[in-house]
Amino acid sequence: MHIKFGSQHTFYASNAAVATEILKTNDRHLSSARAAPPSVLIDGQIQYSLLWNECNDYWKSLRKVCRTELFTTRMLDSQSQIREKKVMDLMNFLKTKQGQIVQVSDVVFVTLLNLLSNMIFSKDMFLYEGEDEKRGMKYLIRDVTLTAVKLDISELFPILRPLDLQGIKRGVNNGLKPIFGSWAETVRDRKESKDHSRHDFLDVLIQGGFSDQTLDGMILEMLGAGSETTTSTIEWTLTELLRHPHMLKKLREELQAVVGDRPMKESDLPKLPYLHACIKETLRLHPPAPFLIPRRSTETCTVLNYTIPKGSQILVNAYAIHRDPDTWERPLDYWPERFIGSELDYQGNHLQFIPFGAGRRICIGLPLGSRATRMVLGSLVKWFDWELPNGMEPDKLPMTESFGLTLQMDPPLFAIPKYRT
Ligand code: HEM
Repeated sequence: MHIKFGSQHTFYASNAAVATEILKTNDRHLSSARAAPPSVLIDGQIQYSLLWNECNDYWKSLRKVCRTELFTTRMLDSQSQIREKKVMDLMNFLKTKQGQIVQVSDVVFVTLLNLLSNMIFSKDMFLYEGEDEKRGMKYLIRDVTLTAVKLDISELFPILRPLDLQGIKRGVNNGLKPIFGSWAETVRDRKESKDHSRHDFLDVLIQGGFSDQTLDGMILEMLGAGSETTTSTIEWTLTELLRHPHMLKKLREELQAVVGDRPMKESDLPKLPYLHACIKETLRLHPPAPFLIPRRSTETCTVLNYTIPKGSQILVNAYAIHRDPDTWERPLDYWPERFIGSELDYQGNHLQFIPFGAGRRICIGLPLGSRATRMVLGSLVKWFDWELPNGMEPDKLPMTESFGLTLQMDPPLFAIPKYRT
């Protein structure tokens, strides 16, 4: 589909065949450059970005560090105990909240931020409760991430850009300073101490000789891209399971058979196919990045008889592709069983299922996102029963989606945890 808004040509790829052309066949010209929103064009920030940069040498060097140092199976395995502990911290916190209404995404978000901050800094940086700075920082990171991906009217009418009518640029700009400030001391101390024995992400970046701006940009993008997407997947999955009690029961039976009464370990994950199927089915119906990340064509190209002019914005509509009735049986039903015994994965090999994207810009954090969603969701289901406030029946739960570059539950899920003995 082609739309022209203002001076902007926008092309939507809404089936797997067109997505293949954009993400694979013509990826050099159609998937190399991002269509960055004006909010990230501030203060030269984009030149330090992995997410918004085009596929230049700088981008390649950052991706290489992530691929070879950060998200390798060896590195992830070596940190699995820390993540397992963070998940149990969440369970212990929820025990103190029994009988009270909890906004599920709020507490899961903190867990994800701490999983990531341990990977980056080898320490917790965020708190569940308390009015101190660390708690505020969680909201700031969320605000900046969500503000940066809001639809900006000046994308359609670039002439309006300097006016920043919606205050998006201002919002992001104001948020960045305190965020960068929150880890400035840690970075300085680590550089001065010259002790790089932790082998965490900060050590890797410092030893790789990357500049302070790169450090700030990379840390922010890891925290931003890694937390919101994963949290949304967990929130939607828990909601779907509450609406489908027989699936919840089936999942608990699997968890009981494999994990029993002890805490979950990441080494359990390969033995939990139904858990994986539930997460996959959520990623199909509720992909956290419904249009992936917008691209911009660097050359004029012809795609299945369409001419895409140089400079056009290209949105790969994963949301529509995942619900295409030509590809999917019962496309609108939440039905995890479709993935049992199926070869279909989300590694970018099957273009009808691309929650992490595909091709050269596929999500770099996929291996971590895949583990973290299963660990947190599996533990929430294993250790707690969840009731809805005011005796609401699960089938009355609102399933409204708020659309932007990210897809969120709106209103979010509120539920009351009860520890399962
Ligand atoms: C369920 C979890 C996640 C989902 C569904 C998800 C999804 C995505 C998607 C759709 C893209 C864009 C791909 C494209 O444009 O083709 C992306 C890119 C990216 N993701 Fe994720 N992501 C998740 C978790 C993570 C985690 C845990 C991290 C890091 C800690 C991360 C970091 C990134 C980065 C840095 C990029 C930009 C890559 C580039 O442009 O080269 N993501 N992700």
